Amino acid sequence: MNTDRYHQSEELYQRALDVIVGGVNSPARSFKAVGGGAPVFIARAQGAYLWDADGNRYIDYLAAYGPVILGHAHPEMTEAITKAASRGTLYGAPTELEVQLAERVREAIPSMERVRFVNSGTEAVMTAVRLSRAATGRSRIMKFEGCYHGHSDIALVKAGSGPSTLGIADSAGVPTHVAADVVSLPFNNVGALKDALDRWGSEVAAILVEPVVGNMGIVEPKPGFLDEVTRLMHEAGGLVIYDEVITAFRFTYGGAQNILGQSPDITCLGKIVGGGLALGAYGGRRELMDLIAPKGAAYQAGTLAGNPLSVSAGLKALDILRRPGTYEGLEAKAAYLAEGVLRNAREFGHEVQLNRYGSGFTLFFTGTPVRDYTTAQTADTGRFARLFRGLLDRGVHLAPSRFEAWFLTIAHSRQDLDETLEATRQVLSDMRG
Ligand SMILES: Cc1ncc(COP(=O)(O)O)c(C=O)c1O
Repeated sequence: MNTDRYHQSEELYQRALDVIVGGVNSPARSFKAVGGGAPVFIARAQGAYLWDADGNRYIDYLAAYGPVILGHAHPEMTEAITKAASRGTLYGAPTELEVQLAERVREAIPSMERVRFVNSGTEAVMTAVRLSRAATGRSRIMKFEGCYHGHSDIALVKAGSGPSTLGIADSAGVPTHVAADVVSLPFNNVGALKDALDRWGSEVAAILVEPVVGNMGIVEPKPGFLDEVTRLMHEAGGLVIYDEVITAFRFTYGGAQNILGQSPDITCLGKIVGGGLALGAYGGRRELMDLIAPKGAAYQAGTLAGNPLSVSAGLKALDILRRPGTYEGLEAKAAYLAEGVLRNAREFGHEVQLNRYGSGFTLFFTGTPVRDYTTAQTADTGRFARLFRGLLDRGVHLAPSRFEAWFLTIAHSRQDLDETLEATRQVLSDMRG
C-alpha cells in the first residue's frame, strides 16, 4: 500500500471517525474486509472515473454498488436532475412523472402490473415481505444464504447449519422472534428447499430470491433452479419475491426475470431505477398489490417516496438505457475485461474462478467453482485484499470485498479497460511471491 497517496483521505477518516460512527455511512464502504485503515474519500466523479480527496484518479468498477450504469455525471442526467430541481424537489402530492415512470417500469417488467415507489431497496424488500404476509396470512419467510436484501430485521437473518435450524440473526438488535420466522437455505439447491418446505411449507408466506445473485459475488442460478423455486413455493401456497435491486436494468432493459423467463409474484427494484438518486420500487400482480394502502389494509408510506427529483433521474436513466446497443456494448466490454483478468490470473499461476453475468463479474481466489455461499466463502480473503490494494494504488477502484462484483458502465472506454488489464497484470504478477 502506497500510503503517501492517501494523506487527505487519512485526515478525513480521522475527522469522520470522531463524528460518524465507524467513519462511514454504510459499513460496505469501510476497508475492514481488506485489512482496515482509511477508505478512499471521493471528491468528484466524471464518466468512468473517480477522483479522491488527494487528487488521485481511479477507473471505477464499484459503480456505487451497481446503480452507476451510465457512468458518473452523464451530461443528460445532470441536465434532467438540474431541471427537475429548478421545479421544486418535493411536493407531497402526486405527479405525472411518477405515473410515467411506473408505466415505463411495467412496460419493461410486465409482472409488475401495479407499482409503488419507495426510497431504497431496503424499503422495497421490507414492504414486499409485509405484502406477502398480508396476502397469505402466514409469517414465515424463506431466503438464500449469502443473498443480501437490505437491512430490515427480517432480511438480516440466516439459518445456522441447514434447514432444520431456526434462524439466527446476523445483526445485534434483531428480535429472536423475528429471527425465528426466517429459514435460510443454500442457493442452487432444490433438495434443501424441498426439505424446508416439507417441514414449514404450510407456514411460509414467501421466499426472497436474487434471481442472479450479486451479493456473494456474481452467482448464476443453475438451469431449472428458479422454475423449481416457483413451482415448489406455489405448491406450498407461498409467494415468490424477486429482489432485482441489483439485477433490474443491469443485464437488459428489464429484469433478470425477462432473460430467465420468470414471472415472480412480487418484484423489488432499487439502484439503477433511480438513476443514481434515492429510489426503490416494488410491484406485482394487481390483486396482490391491491392489498396495499390506501386500497388495502397493508400499510406503507413515505414522505420522500416517488419524489420528483429521483423520479426524473429514473426516467432519464431509462431513456438512455433503452437506446439500441446499450446492453450489447456493456456485455462486450465486460467480456473483454473479464477474459483479460482471467488470462492474467492464470498466467501468474493463481487459482481463481471468474463468474460473469452480462456487465458484472467477480474474480474469486479459489479452486472451487462458486455456486452458493459455502463455495463463495472458499475465496481467499488475503489474496483479494492484495489485489484490491494493488489496484487502488494503480488507479483502479473496486468494491472493498471479495463478495462484490466489478460493474461496467457505458462510460468505460477500450483504453480504460486496457489500462485496467495492465494494472491487474502488474498486481497479479507481484502477488506471485
Ligand atoms: C439485492 C439487494 N437487495 C436490496 C438491497 C438494499 O438496497 P438499499 O441499499 O438501496 O437499501 C441491496 C443493496 O445492496 C441489494 O444488493
